[in-house]
Amino acid sequence: MHTEGHTRTARGVFTGEVVANRAICRGHYRLQVLVERFPPTQPGQFVQVQCRPLEALAGNTVSEWPAGRPPTLTQPELRDTEAFLRRPLSLAGRTEHGDDVELSLVYRVVGVGTRWLAGLGGGEPVSVLGPLGNGFTIRGEAERAVLVGGGVGIPPLMYLAHALAAAGKKTIVFAGARTGEVLPLTLVPGARVEADGRATPCVAEFAAAGAPSVVATDDGSMGYRGFISEALSHWLEQSGAKGGQVVVYCCGPEAMMQAVAAACVSADIECQLALERHMACGMGTCQSCVVKTTADSADGWKYSLCCQDGPVFDARDVLW
Ligand SMILES: Cc1cc2nc3c(=O)[nH]c(=O)nc-3n(C[C@H](O)[C@H](O)[C@H](O)COP(=O)(O)OP(=O)(O)OC[C@H]3O[C@@H](n4cnc5c(N)ncnc54)[C@H](O)[C@@H]3O)c2cc1C
Ligand code: FES
Repeated sequence: MHTEGHTRTARGVFTGEVVANRAICRGHYRLQVLVERFPPTQPGQFVQVQCRPLEALAGNTVSEWPAGRPPTLTQPELRDTEAFLRRPLSLAGRTEHGDDVELSLVYRVVGVGTRWLAGLGGGEPVSVLGPLGNGFTIRGEAERAVLVGGGVGIPPLMYLAHALAAAGKKTIVFAGARTGEVLPLTLVPGARVEADGRATPCVAEFAAAGAPSVVATDDGSMGYRGFISEALSHWLEQSGAKGGQVVVYCCGPEAMMQAVAAACVSADIECQLALERHMACGMGTCQSCVVKTTADSADGWKYSLCCQDGPVFDARDVLW
């Protein structure tokens, strides 16, 4: 497991086979892909998924581009309506089956790439590039982990919850969504989802890792009414959690992460944020995913790359 500093693991392009691709709530799917000999991974890392048929890119040649004239765009990827670039998705889980690895991805359909993914059926091939980025760091000294996820920021925390359980950490989860219908999680039948912000073993994915959950929805249709960052702030106050004892791990919409970061920094609690910037290459080449971070320079800041230096950053280092 990832401790201090960033270690680069092996990575590559793999053709996997879809095991299952099932709807889990409105507009959200869980895709399970079996990949032979996928390299070691850490929670917080992501993969770049090709959201178009594998054969679509096969056999392409260089477009004609005479010097000083506009290129002649004849290659299919420049003309058709499928996603040209791969799309980044966080690892939501990993299971070993001998030499094969089953990767779990949870995604929301928002555009051309994810719409194509949603149409994939069992047995179909899918190309996965990864693992990419740096994962979360599990602190040996902290007694308790607090996971805070919003919407499609929840998937990396599913994987993390299992790694924390394996490391013997006590974990509590705060999971939020706009409304109950788009919470990408499975409720345990008969379990209570408390409206007062109390944690219960109500979410199957986290209960399986021994972690109780607080669920919040903006409209109050499920669990606590309000932002998940508010539910976290109440818990931090009531529990008297102190820096050193607790580490907060967070992923979700940027406004939510900003609120969680502010609450943690003011309470002197370590907070690791998995940022999800728009990405093209996902591996440090295109410079499209910059994040402003603190630096020992004259002006006190620099641009970091979300894909390569992150996506996990210490909340104290991020300049919003
Ligand atoms: C490191 C990382 C991990 C991610 N993990 C997940 C995940 O586990 N599950 C999941 O559902 N999504 C995740 N995302 C977001 C996901 O990559 C985008 O939703 C996806 O690329 C959209 O592709 P599309 O072709 O369907 O949409 P497009 O047609 O490309 O865009 C549709 C809409 O989505 C918006 N969009 C595209 N990319 C992003 C982004 N990175 N952040 C916010 N809005 C975006 C566009 O601005 C546009 O409004 C992650 C992003 C990053 C950078
Ligand atoms: S996505 Fe290309 S540099 Fe980060």
